[in-house]
Amino acid sequence: MTDVSFEVWTEKYRPNNLSEVRGQDDIINRLKAFVSSKSMPHMIFAGMQGTGKTTSFLALARDLYGDTWKDNVLELNASDDRGINIVRTSIKDFARTKAVSDKVPFKLIFLDEADALTKDAQHALRRTMEDYASNVRFCLSCNYSSKIIPPIQSRCAMFRFRPLMREVIVNLLKEIATRENIVIHDDAANFVYDVSEGDCRKAENMLQACSAIATEVTVEVVREVVAFAEPTELYEIIKLSLAGDFNSAKNKMSDILIKYGLSGMDAIRQIQKQVWNSPDFDDKLKVQLIKFCGEYEYRLTEGANEFVQLNAFLAEVVLLGSNVSTEN
Ligand SMILES: Nc1ncnc2c1ncn2[C@@H]1O[C@H](COP(=O)(O)OP(=O)(O)OP(=O)(O)O)[C@@H](O)[C@H]1O
Ligand SMILES: [Mg+2]
Repeated sequence: MTDVSFEVWTEKYRPNNLSEVRGQDDIINRLKAFVSSKSMPHMIFAGMQGTGKTTSFLALARDLYGDTWKDNVLELNASDDRGINIVRTSIKDFARTKAVSDKVPFKLIFLDEADALTKDAQHALRRTMEDYASNVRFCLSCNYSSKIIPPIQSRCAMFRFRPLMREVIVNLLKEIATRENIVIHDDAANFVYDVSEGDCRKAENMLQACSAIATEVTVEVVREVVAFAEPTELYEIIKLSLAGDFNSAKNKMSDILIKYGLSGMDAIRQIQKQVWNSPDFDDKLKVQLIKFCGEYEYRLTEGANEFVQLNAFLAEVVLLGSNVSTEN
């Protein structure tokens, strides 16, 4: 039987206006002031995933334009593989016409994943921003503000979204639980927070996954869900590589990524955690493995190809394994 009422909770409980956004008080107060004065600068929303960047932008648009917000907003993804030229054409087409709202003299463009743009593309974007500054305000969203070129940074007000605090996430989880007619124990909510590391999307998704297996969410239930999100097989992959079995390690890695829907970055971060907590490795080996994790995580944040990098990572571990065994 299919469940027609199925809805993703992160969308169901996404705040609709600025007052509903949680835990980013300084940012929200500044945005509210823009709404009341009906004037604002270009903006950069920077910060970790799941902390409310897209949500705050959409809430701002709703608060500013009311029912006509959709006519006044263009959402684009900078990492769109059709390239910056398509992005620029859409911006031009949108910006060329006057603002639709009679109360607000400008329209808004939200450029998600702006840190995925190359430097050249960012310089082109900067010119576009200047050309249309009279009737368009840009909001650039990114995980790493350092990847935005200084000339763009200096033209924008910077908003840094912090990971959400424990209390904020725990309270939100309890409220959602009540609305969904389930119960979440205090220690379970705290455990979800620990795993989420302040990423609200991750916390809500975990609660929804828990609710699929129990109406009373205990620490054990969360553990079961976490075991799925943080597969221990990743740890097995490291052991296989250290033992020199590159082929099995490589195949197992791609199986796990597909089976659990993990990104390469998720995998490296999990491996780092599991290596660090492992009683099986001595400190020297742990330090070397953690150094590799850092190097490859960085390459992935820089946009390198996932499979190539994960295979190279495993190859390094294989080489490390052969050095360790010749030393002994
Ligand atoms: N500050 C917040 N208050 C309430 N809910 C939040 C907040 N931040 C995130 N959420 C919840 O998490 C979901 C994802 O948040 P959002 O899309 O705003 O993240 P983001 O910061 O844009 O992340 P990304 O960097 O991945 O784009 C939202 O739909 C909402 O349910
Ligand atoms: Mg977003």
